[in-house]
Amino acid sequence: MPRDALQTTSRQSQAREAKALAVAKAKAIAPDLVARIGSTPKTTFRGDPDIFGRLVEDHDRHRALLAMIEETQGDSDDRRALFEELTRELKAHAAAEEQALWSSVLRDPETTDFARHAIAEHKEIDDLLADLAARDMGSSGWLQRFAALKAEYLHHIREEEQEQFVAAEEHLSSTDLRHMRRVFEQRKKAEKAAAQIEKKIRLKD
Ligand SMILES: [Fe+2]
Ligand SMILES: [Fe+2]
Repeated sequence: MPRDALQTTSRQSQAREAKALAVAKAKAIAPDLVARIGSTPKTTFRGDPDIFGRLVEDHDRHRALLAMIEETQGDSDDRRALFEELTRELKAHAAAEEQALWSSVLRDPETTDFARHAIAEHKEIDDLLADLAARDMGSSGWLQRFAALKAEYLHHIREEEQEQFVAAEEHLSSTDLRHMRRVFEQRKKAEKAAAQIEKKIRLKD
């Protein structure tokens, strides 16, 4: 096989392995449920050794958690456990992503707007999580509201993968990107350990 073709095959298998690993982490919370994440938006970052590969790994884990919650029925132990995990994951991921990546991207006038966009959506998602936590998980309306959060989050991570990471990558060195991965790893762990579930009904719909 020509060298280029070999490299493409190994990149593809790295991406596949990274996705499978991410889904397995989500499945550990409720092993009996299926995680139908389906096809994911195209990205070249999946399986990369820098911060973007690490962030996409989390995004896939979140895609799996979102899909699994939709498989749960009523106010069940699985729904509670998965929603708590999702909340702690999303909060820790967003905070660590802001500290490791968006703070630097924000400082560069060329990319300020990309970072600002991503950070504004984090706040929006946080508000939706707090709203869901405050509502009756057994009601049929809960899953409808959850579907709105899912759509919002899938939109957010697709845009990061296809637009904001692409713009940020052009302005950062590979040394920066490796270093940022280490910062992300440390911060995510600390943020997840400290994450609190907030409950607050959103007044606007
Ligand atoms: Fe984000
Ligand atoms: Fe992200």
